[in-house]
Amino acid sequence: MRESTMIANALSPVMGAEILDLDLTKALDSATFEAIHQALLDHLVIVFRNQRLSAAQHVAFSRRFGDLMVHVKTEYLLPNQPEVLVLSNKKHSDGRPVGFEDAGRYWHSDMSYVEEPPLGSLLHAIEIPPEKGDTLYCNMYMAYEALSAATKRRLEGLQASHSYLASFEGKTKSGYARDTLTEEQKAQLQEVTHPVVRTHPKTGRCALYVNPGFTVRLEDLPKDEAAELLGELLNQVSKPEFQFRHVWQPHDLVFWDNRCTMHHATPYDTQFTRHMHRTTVKGDRPFAA
Ligand code: OGA
Ligand code: MN
Repeated sequence: MRESTMIANALSPVMGAEILDLDLTKALDSATFEAIHQALLDHLVIVFRNQRLSAAQHVAFSRRFGDLMVHVKTEYLLPNQPEVLVLSNKKHSDGRPVGFEDAGRYWHSDMSYVEEPPLGSLLHAIEIPPEKGDTLYCNMYMAYEALSAATKRRLEGLQASHSYLASFEGKTKSGYARDTLTEEQKAQLQEVTHPVVRTHPKTGRCALYVNPGFTVRLEDLPKDEAAELLGELLNQVSKPEFQFRHVWQPHDLVFWDNRCTMHHATPYDTQFTRHMHRTTVKGDRPFAA
């Protein structure tokens, strides 16, 4: 097989890389596809600059990595392309929001509340404000590795429950518009359990897999101990030394690995438009090796 000439430039010592000189509207040869996949595993968050992708091209590129997932908030999916979730502060002419206005303003790993959570998400910036609205990322390998040996031992075999409803109960949100769910949407959202420390299926490395957005409880421990330990872990994964800040440029496509990162949206001046499309690639059921 031909070697790829693609170059991924690291953006920080913690994670993140920028990939220039690729046009994702064009068909990808398998060497370039492999190089992109490897860059994701090596850098956790990869940024493709200046991608003028249609929704169909965004979907086609994303599909190379696996089946795509459809978000429970069907009102924010593109009508002809349900694999695309819209994040936007635009309104339809009747005043209804076009997309999620305030998605993810708390630390989370996308859809950790399903049995087979996504391996990654691809977010395309179509229109962005002149400043702010950055996205923060946390390296969950580093967060795990930095724990004391004693804490790592306490986490062996431990499971945690994840629930989407938690983020709607005001537990994780503060001070901004609260979205709603229909009874039908709620019915689709059962709580699930995942190991607290998961083994990345491709790299074999251990990563913490708890997040303030959706992790509601640690299982099989006395209640007080569970709450105290979860608090300690959520504190661990919020530390700045594990973080990377992505400052958006128009037409960035950012691909992050949900198995070993969390992310956090930040506010911006809503007199400006922020309009983005997300696809979500299905992953495996998390396991602890
Ligand atoms: C997401 C998300 C963060 C942002 O698309 O999953 O959390 O900054 N987005 O828009
Ligand atoms: Mn998210």
